Amino acid sequence: METQRLASDAHGIARAAELLGSGGVVAFATETVYGLGADARNGTAVAQVYAAKGRPSFNPLIVHVANLEMAQRFGVFDAPHLALAQHFWPGPLSIVVTLTANHGLSSLVTAGLSTVALRVPAHPQAQRLLAQFNGPVAAPSANPSGRISPTTPEHVMAGLWGRIDAVLDGGPCAVGLESTIIGGTPLALLRQGGLSQEDIESITGPLAAAGPDITAPGQLASHYAPRAAIRLDAEAAQGGELLLGFGSMDCDLNLSPASNLTEAAANLFAQLHTLDAQNRPIAVAPIPDTGLGAAINDRLKRAAAPR
Ligand code: TXA
Ligand code: MG
Repeated sequence: METQRLASDAHGIARAAELLGSGGVVAFATETVYGLGADARNGTAVAQVYAAKGRPSFNPLIVHVANLEMAQRFGVFDAPHLALAQHFWPGPLSIVVTLTANHGLSSLVTAGLSTVALRVPAHPQAQRLLAQFNGPVAAPSANPSGRISPTTPEHVMAGLWGRIDAVLDGGPCAVGLESTIIGGTPLALLRQGGLSQEDIESITGPLAAAGPDITAPGQLASHYAPRAAIRLDAEAAQGGELLLGFGSMDCDLNLSPASNLTEAAANLFAQLHTLDAQNRPIAVAPIPDTGLGAAINDRLKRAAAPR
């Protein structure tokens, strides 16, 4: 794939918004770090973000929106969360809130959780892109997995050239640290970042310590796990199991009849939820451990682990 480098002018922003709208993956500047964006409602596009980064597991992603009003389409803001949003947005703060009933986000973005991390970035380029796109953009940092976060378009190009549709050139990032993440009731600091704890506490009062469920970035222990028992590498269902298939086969739901790992990633959490709602054990067909298959298998192994 040829990665386009787009100038941060009206034409470049229009092109970036158009690429996002057609399921493309576009890196763009925020005041913290460059994000690798995709339409958060489009599971296939979000799967491409994981594929481009080579992420070995599915962690929930931050959803970027143009303003608080749009954030409220996706998340429920009670008084403490609303006060934070009103005071610090736009800015380097991500707020974890409960999903609304009709959020329409891909379950790959939330990794199947019932909450979502939302952020309104302050960088003028991100503001213009989000306003023009007029929809939610899921965006982790725009670096290959395991490498440091990019703060210039050159960093992005060095890491992801040929793996993404475009880079929108917004110059160097001012903050250079990922956003601070806050969430829960009572409010807790989930990740240190570009906005200091002192600044937040000047509005909220003392924050709770993050619980045992949540630690460092990407270390969410509370990942979605089905209630049902899960058996992996199953060729067929046994005694009462529902079969989640892959590739051409007889099964209850199929992650990708065409054996396409991008499609399988996009379907993973939604199909697990659907099967889990039927209160029967779940068997899962073998998934190749290459490309996005590694992240799919990582998540399935966690879902199948004894608990
Ligand atoms: O500054 C930033 O935050 C950058 C720019 C691009 O906005 N983005 C970023 O995204 O750092 P990412 O994907 O690297 O960080 C997302 C982290 C996850 O690892 C997880 O710790 C947390 O956000 N997160 C996302 N959704 C969550 C949720 N529902 N509950 C708790 N934590 C969540
Ligand atoms: Mg990152």
